[in-house]
Amino acid sequence: MRTQVAIVGAGPAGLLLSHLLARGGVDSVVLETRSEQYVAARIRAGILEHSSVELLESAGLGARLRAEGDEHRGIHLQWPRERHHLDFVELTGRSVWVYGQTEVQKDLVAARRAGGQEIIYEVSDVALHDVDSDRPSVTYADRSGAVQRLDADVIAGCDGSFGPSRAAVPAARTFERVYPYSWLGILADVAPSTDELIYAWHPDGFALHSMRSATVSRLYLQVPNGTDPASWSDDRIWDALATRLGHGQNGWKLTPGPITDKSVLPMRSRVQTPMRHGNLFLAGDAAHIVPPTGAKGLNLAIADVALLSRALIARIRENDPRLADTYSETAQRRVWRCTHFSWWMTTMLHTSGDPFDAELQLSQLRWVASSRAGATGLAENYAGLPIFI
Ligand code: FAD
Ligand code: DHB
Repeated sequence: MRTQVAIVGAGPAGLLLSHLLARGGVDSVVLETRSEQYVAARIRAGILEHSSVELLESAGLGARLRAEGDEHRGIHLQWPRERHHLDFVELTGRSVWVYGQTEVQKDLVAARRAGGQEIIYEVSDVALHDVDSDRPSVTYADRSGAVQRLDADVIAGCDGSFGPSRAAVPAARTFERVYPYSWLGILADVAPSTDELIYAWHPDGFALHSMRSATVSRLYLQVPNGTDPASWSDDRIWDALATRLGHGQNGWKLTPGPITDKSVLPMRSRVQTPMRHGNLFLAGDAAHIVPPTGAKGLNLAIADVALLSRALIARIRENDPRLADTYSETAQRRVWRCTHFSWWMTTMLHTSGDPFDAELQLSQLRWVASSRAGATGLAENYAGLPIFI
């Protein structure tokens, strides 16, 4: 089989890239190891920045987002006895949207189907070949076990941190930070107890109150690395959330409800550079991982493929390699900005057990909440920079 762009991975990066390429008149085939149902059900990100919403809208993917998503003006930042609202719209003119990655994924799959673009699920033994030549290819075993070969002009590695693409960039440099804590995340069938997200510093550890809809809440607790989710009963989770989020303070109440999903997520920062080798281009989690605090991972994946689609369309349709040649460098400017922001949010809000660190964190939080300059810095980064900077 032959296509113009072979895309490895049907997460948001791979599917959005396929969609944007098709709109620019470039064909692609997407290969995915998991089943369509598995990918669709994976619970992950929940927050879209302003530019991501604009991009999805301009690509014809905004209808359900606008109808079912929820626009937030900002976030609440809190520590014991204090809660402050940061109004991003007032500070920067930009808002964020609560719209689950599961929903973005459904919209992308529907758009791919409507466009007649091929997504091949449940492949195995995916291998990349001759990426530094003009005739790169991907081999894989299909669902029946038969070995297939996909020839392409370009391969896009959108296969996350565990896929084979990132290892196919020789002599890549990797920068990494592993954090000494994880998140216990729950999904609960209960109306959110807050209008906008609450990021809470607490001596027992960080807590985050997020949401997916008017009837579904998403909440997270800082826990030690290696925590077994089974060691946290539902009651223990709600008790810890109530303590850390300040149940009872100034009349605020956390309403518990049935927990439908419980998982532990390790936290790391990782940046691999360059994001290109010959005719292989990396995008999304294949090239970088951020810790979840600050909600940048999905947004970075969207920004990468906005740049990459433009570069590949210019190269394939107009034989103009300039954007492809600068893709890695351009993408990395945003990657490092978001890597810094995610690291900063993470280290400001998670307790380390060291009292000196705790005083510095509280001082930083007070400054962010009370200074317009401090609040604007957080707001600019959280609501996000324009995609084409
Ligand atoms: P992925 O979504 O990982 O997709 C990669 C795909 O490649 C997968 O479907 C995988 O199965 C497939 N694949 C792997 N190996 C192969 C192979 N050999 N061949 C073919 N396919 C392969 N980000 C935010 O912006 N905001 C948030 O609020 C946020 N919250 C998060 C909360 C949680 C709990 C988690 C886990 C993540 C969160 N993130 C958030 C991060 C975000 O989910 C990821 O950054 C995003 O999914 C990256 O998209 P991607 O397409 O690059 O990678
Ligand atoms: C969510 C995750 C985040 O990491 C974050 O900063 C905000 C929200 C969420 O899953 O809803």
